[in-house]
Amino acid sequence: MIELVDVVKKYRIGIHEVVALNGVSLSVRDGEFVVIMGPSGSGKSTLLHLIGCLDKPTSGKVIIDGLDTSKLSDRELTELRRDKIGFVFQQYYLIPTLTALENVELPMVFKGVPKEKRHSRAEELLELVGLKGKEDRKPKELSGGEQQRVAIARALANEPSILLCDEPTGNLDTKSGKVVMDIIKRLNVEEGVTVVLVTHDPSLSDYGDRVVRIRDGRIIHAD
Ligand SMILES: Nc1ncnc2c1ncn2[C@@H]1O[C@H](COP(=O)(O)OP(=O)(O)OP(=O)(O)O)[C@@H](O)[C@H]1O
Ligand SMILES: [Mg+2]
Repeated sequence: MIELVDVVKKYRIGIHEVVALNGVSLSVRDGEFVVIMGPSGSGKSTLLHLIGCLDKPTSGKVIIDGLDTSKLSDRELTELRRDKIGFVFQQYYLIPTLTALENVELPMVFKGVPKEKRHSRAEELLELVGLKGKEDRKPKELSGGEQQRVAIARALANEPSILLCDEPTGNLDTKSGKVVMDIIKRLNVEEGVTVVLVTHDPSLSDYGDRVVRIRDGRIIHAD
């Protein structure tokens, strides 16, 4: 369960203050697929970063599985991110010098999973996203859609219960975008992974159980 309670996020640039989120409250149940839609600059990425504990709110609370994240130390936050949360971004952020397999293994290296085990799990995950046979390719030897599928496999490495996706199809053509969305949907339905996906693409709204609309840092419609 993800709970945001009256979350405000302000950024300061010199003497200027930008209010990116202006009192957002939102609950996402375990196993739910929530699509957050809103125009550019409305605060979608900021919201996702706060849910993923990549950043802290200026005020308000972010509660993950009953844990008030404002009360956690940096070390505890790192562990929470590593063990519960997977991220998928518009720019895949794969390590260019590593193969697909090594990219997927990386989060397991950080967790101290033994070599044999992380190797076989990475192979399984790449198969799950339809990339069997391409394990040894470097990112630049893969299409955008394939790179995003590697990024999804990497996000799943430590069996997160929550998958946070920021415009995951933003750089993809319609067909590869659909492949990626179908994988995310399948993870949600079959594995019960909670998904929060932000986008400004209305055609993705059907994938969610629920659409939340955000504008100028506020939720304007939640059904
Ligand atoms: N690190 C930062 N420093 C200052 N202002 C920021 C920072 N990050 C975001 N902002 C501002 O906060 C507001 C919300 O930004 P955010 O990135 O969350 O929007 P978004 O909905 O994800 O937009 P897009 O669809 O273009 O990705 C914007 O006005 C943006 O300029
Ligand atoms: Mg954004």
